Amino acid sequence: MYLSSLGRSCVSSLTRSARPSHLFLQGLRVPAVLQQSQTQARWSSHSPMGSPPTEPRKKVTIGKLRAMHRKGEPITMITAHDFPSAHVADAADIDVILVGDSLAMVALGMEDTSEIVVEEMLLHCRSVARATKSAFVVGDLPMGSYEAGPTQALQTAIRFVKEGRMQGVKLEGGKEMVPAIQKITTAGIPVLGHVGLTPQRQNMLGGFRVQGKTAASAMEVLDDALAVQKAGCFAVVLEAVPAEVAAIVTQKLSIPTIGIGAGNGCSGQVLVQIDMTGNSPPGRHLPKFVKKYGDVWSESLRAIKTYREEVKTRQYPAPEHTYPIAKEELEGFAEAVKGI
Ligand code: KIV
Repeated sequence: MYLSSLGRSCVSSLTRSARPSHLFLQGLRVPAVLQQSQTQARWSSHSPMGSPPTEPRKKVTIGKLRAMHRKGEPITMITAHDFPSAHVADAADIDVILVGDSLAMVALGMEDTSEIVVEEMLLHCRSVARATKSAFVVGDLPMGSYEAGPTQALQTAIRFVKEGRMQGVKLEGGKEMVPAIQKITTAGIPVLGHVGLTPQRQNMLGGFRVQGKTAASAMEVLDDALAVQKAGCFAVVLEAVPAEVAAIVTQKLSIPTIGIGAGNGCSGQVLVQIDMTGNSPPGRHLPKFVKKYGDVWSESLRAIKTYREEVKTRQYPAPEHTYPIAKEELEGFAEAVKGI
């Protein structure tokens, strides 16, 4: 059993002077040395959180997002696909964390987003929710989990809240999604719309194509955005739309627009974390709108290569990475094994 899973609060509540030589935890007899299990838990490489680097900020709510929009303050959104990526996004004071179905491709290596199923999304949603203390968390309804009708959409959305621990859901589509959005929002679940390029429909769109490039297509983007707004969405993602079109759509709406490949005139922006942190090998194709703010791949590669080298040359682990044993105990052990 790993130390971190022992009854932490039970052990740490004992005072130093009152410590017995052994404790009984979950039926296990544990030596006194493990009374420091609070520290031990921190040492364990399985302890997830560590200490927060700063004071936790106030929880971001729908009301807070509305207030930001009213004041013209840009809304920041980023994807997170697991516990560590959510942890760092939350620590960076991001307003909204999206468990996007992009995880199918960038975190699970699937061909496209149509492959991922609800249960897989929920597993990732739960891990993101556990790490997120302040940001508003939204889960992406995967293809096939909401298009059959409003009842299916509501049932899936409820699972995202109850099982995935999400605070809102995102779904792709415009006018045709109005009954589903109405059904979900009437049940009290915030919905983030997604119009323009909708990757779940890439087969119909003929691939990942920029939308709204003609007057008629731009009008369709606006119509879709207005429809999902009227249906009750609290905000809408505009994906891969010319910046000028996105700016006009933003002006025509009363809810915030969250742009991705839609220019600077939107009310906020979203990017896929793995793309923007540079956490993928050089040469991987990235869409034009992605700005690489980091080079996590190179840093990980450097660290892992150095570790490999140090293991091969026995530089690692050094004495400071090992646990001490009292001289007499070691001598006793050495004596005891002599006959073996
Ligand atoms: O799946 C996703 O990550 C998304 C964002 C890129 C908007 O839908």
